[in-house]
Amino acid sequence: MTTSALPTPLASLDALTPQLVDWRRHLHRHPELSFHEVETSRYIREVLAGIPGITVSSPTPTSVLGVLHGARPGPTIGVRADIDALPIVEETELPFRSTRDGVMHACGHDGHTAILLGLATRLAARADTLAGTVRFFFQHAEELAPGGGEAMVQAGVMDGVDQVIGLHLWATLPVGQIALIPGPAMASPDNFHCQVIGAGGHAAMPHACTDPIAIAAQVVTAWQQIVSRTVDPLDPAVVSVTQFIAGTAFNVIPNAAYLAGTVRTFDPVLRESIPQRMEKILAGLCEGFGATYTWHFERGYRAVVNDPALTARLTDVVRRTFGDATLADMRPSMGGEDFSAYQQRAPGVYAFVGAGNAARGIAYPHHHPRFDIDEDAMPIGLRYLEAAVLDLLGVA
Ligand code: NI
Repeated sequence: MTTSALPTPLASLDALTPQLVDWRRHLHRHPELSFHEVETSRYIREVLAGIPGITVSSPTPTSVLGVLHGARPGPTIGVRADIDALPIVEETELPFRSTRDGVMHACGHDGHTAILLGLATRLAARADTLAGTVRFFFQHAEELAPGGGEAMVQAGVMDGVDQVIGLHLWATLPVGQIALIPGPAMASPDNFHCQVIGAGGHAAMPHACTDPIAIAAQVVTAWQQIVSRTVDPLDPAVVSVTQFIAGTAFNVIPNAAYLAGTVRTFDPVLRESIPQRMEKILAGLCEGFGATYTWHFERGYRAVVNDPALTARLTDVVRRTFGDATLADMRPSMGGEDFSAYQQRAPGVYAFVGAGNAARGIAYPHHHPRFDIDEDAMPIGLRYLEAAVLDLLGVA
């Protein structure tokens, strides 16, 4: 893989835009799955190595850290992009569509990576005017638990970092808009699976069996009352059963029924209490009807919670950089993100940058086989990150 020549150091943002597009399209053509970002990370290292003043290292096998020191001491700012793709067969007609069967950049991480490479280029060109340090986190494996964010934090990328920022290109937000949500912004995506274990037999003689389907159906129904009857209506929470698997024939009561699904919360107390209640209901119904059960609950990422003071400061940056009309009101998402790993170590803000454009047919949701971004969102995202970093470093 080769990288094209970098723009001249003090190039304007307009001059850099074609380069952003090149980087993004190269990455889009060559997507790699979570934890397997071998060529992707090599490509990023090559580009960063061509930017004077950036030191490059690999905190984990498929992630990349770039570090830029300003001319004088000052705060340390972390900026994060995720770099992985998804196991999806791309169905777009784009000339730069995926060349790898069954793997696709269907969440915009190709754009995130290009934006962060652009930011490194832009800030390195003015390093002599900067007081402080900027760390560029090119994070692997956002899409697959346990995620790459925690591993990068463990590898020390956040040590000494004062503030951390990042963004997601967002297809359901029109290009030209930016949303900064103070406080909880994305949920904890935890998941569960369990079995109701009864005793199978002839469907005509249910009294001689312990029917796991009838019991599991009650479990699913009872769980629906957790959110509606036990959670404060003002606290967002989701319990979704997404798999109910049992049985092989019309005249056979099976031995067991399998249930799986996801729990989404923002509040750490609810995050503890909901699965406890789920297991109690499962245990109680099984006990009542003479069945046994298994129960597995797996924690996903922590909720993304934006630091309110930093959100207010960056909202002001957006206002000054783009004007009021750019700021969009957006509600928190019940989706998950491991940007939260960095937020455990320093105040952080995760922004949503509009990348949808219905007029251009860019209107498919994230993780859809026809997902795309409006590339005009990339220079906007870059401008936002650049203005944010300069503000946090105290450059007027
Ligand atoms: Ni994503």
